[in-house]
Amino acid sequence: MPVTFNKPTRVGKEFEYMQQALRNDHISGDGEFSKKCHALLEDALGVPKVLLTTSCTHALEMSALLLELKDGDEVIVPSFTFVSTINAFVLRGAKPVFADIRPDTLNLDESKLEALITPRTRAIVVVHYAGVGCEMDAIMEIANRRGIPVVEDNAHGLFAKYKGKYLGTFGALATQSFHETKNFTSGEGGALLINDPKYIEDAEVLREKGTNRSRFFRGQVDKYTWVNLGSSYLPSDMLAAFLLAQLEEREQIQARRQRIWETYYKELSAWAEENHVQMPFVPAHCEQPYHIFYLLFPNLEKRQAAINHLKKHDILAVFHYLPLHLSPMGEKYGGRPGDCEVTERVSDQLLRLPFYTNMTDDDQAQVIQALKKFSV
Ligand SMILES: Cc1ncc(COP(=O)(O)O)c(C=O)c1O
Repeated sequence: MPVTFNKPTRVGKEFEYMQQALRNDHISGDGEFSKKCHALLEDALGVPKVLLTTSCTHALEMSALLLELKDGDEVIVPSFTFVSTINAFVLRGAKPVFADIRPDTLNLDESKLEALITPRTRAIVVVHYAGVGCEMDAIMEIANRRGIPVVEDNAHGLFAKYKGKYLGTFGALATQSFHETKNFTSGEGGALLINDPKYIEDAEVLREKGTNRSRFFRGQVDKYTWVNLGSSYLPSDMLAAFLLAQLEEREQIQARRQRIWETYYKELSAWAEENHVQMPFVPAHCEQPYHIFYLLFPNLEKRQAAINHLKKHDILAVFHYLPLHLSPMGEKYGGRPGDCEVTERVSDQLLRLPFYTNMTDDDQAQVIQALKKFSV
C-alpha cells in the first residue's frame, strides 16, 4: 500500500459538532463553536484574546495591519519559512530583511538578529520551526530593548513550550494554522493570539469588516458602523465546530503524534549515524508538539536520491522550504546567494517523512524499513 505524506487528523466528534452548528441555525462566524474555540485556547494557553481566522496567512495579514506597517518599513524574518510569513507584511509595503537560521533547531539565529536592525525596523517575525521554540529569551531581550514588536508565526507549534511557557505567548501577536497538514485542523483555518491587550479592539474591528460589530453584540454600543479599515477574516462556525472536536482531544492527538515521532527517532538513529544523516534536534528547555519529522542529508544529491528511493517503495516524502531570499521576489529585495548560508544548505538537505496523527504502525514500519535499505 502506498504511504502518503499527510492525512488530515480526525478524532470522532467533528461531524456531530458540525450538525449541532447547523441545528443552531448559526453557521456564519463567531457562533457557539467559535466562542468555544476562543475560550478553550485562551484558557489553555493563558492568552488575553484569541480570534479564529480563515488561515494563518490571514492572521499574519491582520498582524501587519495591526502594527500599521507601511511603505519603506522593514520586517526581519527568517529566510527559511513559508511564504506567508513575510508576504503578509510585504502586502502592506514593508521590505523583508532576511535572517539566517541556527544549524541545530533551524530557527532564526538570535546571535545574528541585532545586526539586522535599522532605524526602519518595525517588526521581528519569528517562526518556531517544527514547533520547537526559538531562543525567545534572547530574542525578546533584543526586541524589548530596541522597542520593536515581535510576531510569532506559530503555525507549527500549538501547545509547544519554551522554558515552560507556551509558544505564541511571547510576542505582541502570534499566529496559528489549522490547515489540513497541521496537528489540529479545520481544513483551512487559523487564529490570531493577542498578547498585548492594546491590539484587541482594533483586531476585532479589523476582522469584522472594519465595523464595531463585536462591541454591538456585547451590548457596548447600540448600533454598529464602519469605524476603521477592515476585512473579513472570520471562519464559518461549521469549521470552528470541526476544529473544536480536535482541540478538545488535544492530549490524545499529541500523545499519538509523540509515539510516531519517537518511533522514527529510535528506529532511525543508528542508520542516521552510519549514513551521516542529521536527526532533528530539540533543546532540553523546549517541549515540542511532534509536528514534523525531518532528516538532514549530507547534500542535495543524496536528499534527491532518498526521495527517489522512497518513491520506488511507494512512499511520498517531501522537502521545504526554498530560501525566500533567493526566490524571484526575494531577489527583488536584494537577496543574493551566500546571504543566509545555513538556510541555503539546509534547504538542500532537508527531507520530511510521512507523519500524520492516524498513521498506522504498518505504514510507519514501511517507511522505516525502506529508509534502512538506503545507504547514503
Ligand atoms: C511557518 C508557516 N507559516 C504560515 C503558514 C500558512 O498557513 P495557512 O495555510 O494556515 O495560511 C504555513 C503553512 O504551512 C507555515 O508553515
